[in-house]
Amino acid sequence: MTASSPPTPVVYGEGSRPPRGDYARDGLVLADYTCPQNYAAYTAQDHDTYRRLFERQSALLPGLACDAFIEALPRLGARDRIPRFEEINASLTPATGWEVVAVPGLIPEVPFFTLLANRKFPVTDWIRTPDEMDYIVEPDVFHDLFGHVPLLFNPVFADHMQAYGVGGLKAHGLGACEQLSRLYWYTVEFGLVRQADGLRAYGAGILSSAGELQHSVRSPQPQRLALDVTRCMRTRYKIDSYQQTYFVIDSFQQLFDLTAPDFTPLYAQVQAQDALTADASVAGDLPG
Ligand code: PHE
Ligand code: FE
Repeated sequence: MTASSPPTPVVYGEGSRPPRGDYARDGLVLADYTCPQNYAAYTAQDHDTYRRLFERQSALLPGLACDAFIEALPRLGARDRIPRFEEINASLTPATGWEVVAVPGLIPEVPFFTLLANRKFPVTDWIRTPDEMDYIVEPDVFHDLFGHVPLLFNPVFADHMQAYGVGGLKAHGLGACEQLSRLYWYTVEFGLVRQADGLRAYGAGILSSAGELQHSVRSPQPQRLALDVTRCMRTRYKIDSYQQTYFVIDSFQQLFDLTAPDFTPLYAQVQAQDALTADASVAGDLPG
């Protein structure tokens, strides 16, 4: 693939809606799907949207977000404008060897996993419009930076994300991306962690959402289960509503250890069973 024939993007999950980013960019999207962060293209309104999202979301964190996230958030740099990715990398790379790279939007599985396996985290460079403050279907720069990047400063979580990328490439070869993506959804995106002082959120989809942050940690409605890898990989998820089930870990070390075994036999086992609905409860479920 050359720079003059930009890669064809795909969207995760079902649906034929095309992704929103500009994947053509006059040849600026590279074969690995990264692109320069189009910083000059941000308008004053874009920077203001980021500032307002950051301010609203950071005020909600105490008592709801995990300690590691709250501690690392100041290291994300500018909060009154969209940060330049190189500013973030100046502190992130020395901390854990991770690097933030710009992408035009959602990218296909293999390039996504390849970037993670190389400790590069793809961040969408565009930002939502002001009428999308409360909800956006696709990840934008606020979700990707605010939601995902603070925990890349945590050494254990940082190693987990790289292992996930390596595991993703393996899952692709085994035809098991759907199973692995459910694990990602219920951990990296919507995971909860049990701290000594109570339940907290560590998933990026929760941490970047004003509504779901409170719902996931406090609401009596959803079920909260102790993370079990095969149970999780059997469970379908909803992308357009709050989660009906959250999986809870005790620590990032536990997440790392639970996902360390060879998944090859686990994929075979899960694929031989029927998938579970997002609100299912089955024998053997343990409260989280
Ligand atoms: N251990 C998994 C495998 O062997 C890979 C993996 C690591 C998956 C971390 C998720 C998270 O396939
Ligand atoms: Fe995300």
